[in-house]
Amino acid sequence: MTEVEAKQRLKLLYMEIRAADDQYYNADAPVLSDAEYDALRQEMLALEAEFPHLVTANSPSQSVGVKPSGKFGKITHAVPMLSLDNAFTDDDVTDFVARVKRFLNLPDDTVIEFTSEPKIDGLSAALRYENGVLVSGATRGDGQVGEDVTANLRTLETVPKTLKGTGWPDVLEVRGEVYIDHLDFETMNQAQQAAGKDVYKNPRNAAAGSLRQIDPSITAKRPLKLFAYAWGELSAPISETQFGAIERLAEWGFSTNPETRLHSNAADIIQHYTEISEKRANLGYDIDGVVYKVNDLELQERLGFVSRAPRWAIAHKFPAEKAITLLKDIEIQVGRTGALTPVAKLDPITVGGVVVSNATLHNEDEINRLGVKPGDRVEIQRAGDVIPQVLRIVEDSGNAPFDFPTHCPVCGAEARNDVDEKTGRIDVVKRCTNGVRCPAQATESLIHFVSRRAFDIDGMGTKQIEGFYDKGLVLEPADIFTLESRNESIGLERWEGWGETSARNLFDAINARRNIEFHRFLYGLGIRHIGQGNANLLARHYLSWDKFFDAVISIGEADSFAWTELMSIDGVGPGQAGSVRDYFADPANRQLVQNLLAQVNVIDAEAPSGDSPVAGKTVVFTGKLEKFSRDEAKAKAQSLGAKVSGSVSGKTDYLIAGPGAGSKLKKAESLGVKVLSEDEWLAFID
Ligand code: IVH
Repeated sequence: MTEVEAKQRLKLLYMEIRAADDQYYNADAPVLSDAEYDALRQEMLALEAEFPHLVTANSPSQSVGVKPSGKFGKITHAVPMLSLDNAFTDDDVTDFVARVKRFLNLPDDTVIEFTSEPKIDGLSAALRYENGVLVSGATRGDGQVGEDVTANLRTLETVPKTLKGTGWPDVLEVRGEVYIDHLDFETMNQAQQAAGKDVYKNPRNAAAGSLRQIDPSITAKRPLKLFAYAWGELSAPISETQFGAIERLAEWGFSTNPETRLHSNAADIIQHYTEISEKRANLGYDIDGVVYKVNDLELQERLGFVSRAPRWAIAHKFPAEKAITLLKDIEIQVGRTGALTPVAKLDPITVGGVVVSNATLHNEDEINRLGVKPGDRVEIQRAGDVIPQVLRIVEDSGNAPFDFPTHCPVCGAEARNDVDEKTGRIDVVKRCTNGVRCPAQATESLIHFVSRRAFDIDGMGTKQIEGFYDKGLVLEPADIFTLESRNESIGLERWEGWGETSARNLFDAINARRNIEFHRFLYGLGIRHIGQGNANLLARHYLSWDKFFDAVISIGEADSFAWTELMSIDGVGPGQAGSVRDYFADPANRQLVQNLLAQVNVIDAEAPSGDSPVAGKTVVFTGKLEKFSRDEAKAKAQSLGAKVSGSVSGKTDYLIAGPGAGSKLKKAESLGVKVLSEDEWLAFID
């Protein structure tokens, strides 16, 4: 068969198969027997295999025929998908450039190149190619694990199914932003309206909703596009520079942003930002800032990451959009850690395309500073994904000042301002003193417990937790794990909105978390100041939950051994350490943990492995380093699996001492700790 004949035949096959699919899925009246249908698909697949470049995005092989699964599978990202730090002012950008040079220990006048590209306001996706063929596609998810939306991503015209050109590595994972442009968004919403369906609030929501359709044939009808701007796993390097890598992605068939530029200093970058700000309204798609990246990939590698964002990139965000509206009331919300947060209830108003009816007032001091009270007309602002804020009073109602409560509005316990461990100053935030005995703190803690970065229990969210809590069925985390054994009397499958399948799915999702990693377990407890990054640090330091628990419950005096050890972990300060100590000092919390441990098994963190001689060793840096900045040296040591500590003790394995080393060096010598110069250290880890 010639190519032209194949093309015609495929066109016909596509039509017949699509008609049959439509009958089968939507009309419940198959026109073809199974055998006839299978024969058509076989013929199509054989032709597509013979002429792969004839496969189009809307070929039935690329979408339908995959029965709706009801749920997406999960894909673990081989390289985590990170987020970006933000810059809001020109000074933030200048600081970023200076910070990069400082980390690399380069003089201020060194020229470093940066790329700039618009920050597309969509959602990110990862596309994996093996030997030039698209094999999977995932959403970002929590950055570690995303949803498998391969069938949906295949339907995008801007997602190559096979790579063009030559020279791509065997494994190539391309990352980019899925978005919908302004014109398509308008058309799409008109169609939604005509069909009597809800319209989407903005292109970003429309893109997210469209990509996460269970049925890929619906995604295929949505005008989704993708700009490629980054990569994950690669079996071989694709370029020496960011700019070059983007050019290669374009050669291989990806759509890359035409506004991508190269700059060599902060002033140049800021000038370009102004130009993009002016062009913004005419680009045809939503952007919420400009992203700058260090161009040299070797430098990117050296700069590495800090918790969830790279040191080599920053997002320069556009200023917030503002609006004026009536402040109807001030409501006090009680969070997971007991913080009383005042929330302004507003007359709903559209700000930057989103309807806003709540804005945060942060704390009591902020209310006093602004002087706001119910009845005032206020100016509010919304910046990207940041919670809207109240800026000032525009028209004073003359009403009496707002009386900030002295007691928790939910449980009635006293609300107090803490004293900051570090500064000794009184904290601006008032907190309910009732801990998990307060229903608001308990439910918020439970919601945090089941959330994605913690126990990640599918099918258990705010609504379900509140429902179970109100009925007295789940009052603490352990209760989640006993729901199934109590279900005879609960009868979840008979509740409104539930059924046999959804109840079964929930119990399965819960049981799947009975073995849980140390860092997730710790993060899930919701201890103040112990976010994902700190939970990871602690897990990597103590390795086993028992060791950690024994240590933290033995913290009595501020100078106890356990306290010193906790404080010696690089990245743990008095705020975090004090918070851990206080949490475990409360018998109610210890009981809660004990109850939970009766239900789940905590998996030990992995001891740092690898061939490096410093893996698992504790190192301390002191004095001046000459080849690297202190930050880069520490980051390098950590990436090799070493624990970096701020103080010398009997547990220190190596002290790396530069010129000017003083008391730490003396202490190391007296303890017989091995001391290395910077050069010796470099030779050692090489
Ligand atoms: S680079 C490690 N470049 O912004 C750096 N991100 O706030 C990975 N985004 O999750 C991201 N346009 O969804 C990069 N030109 C661009 C971008 C971009 C939009 C999104 C992306 C990311 C988020 C971070």
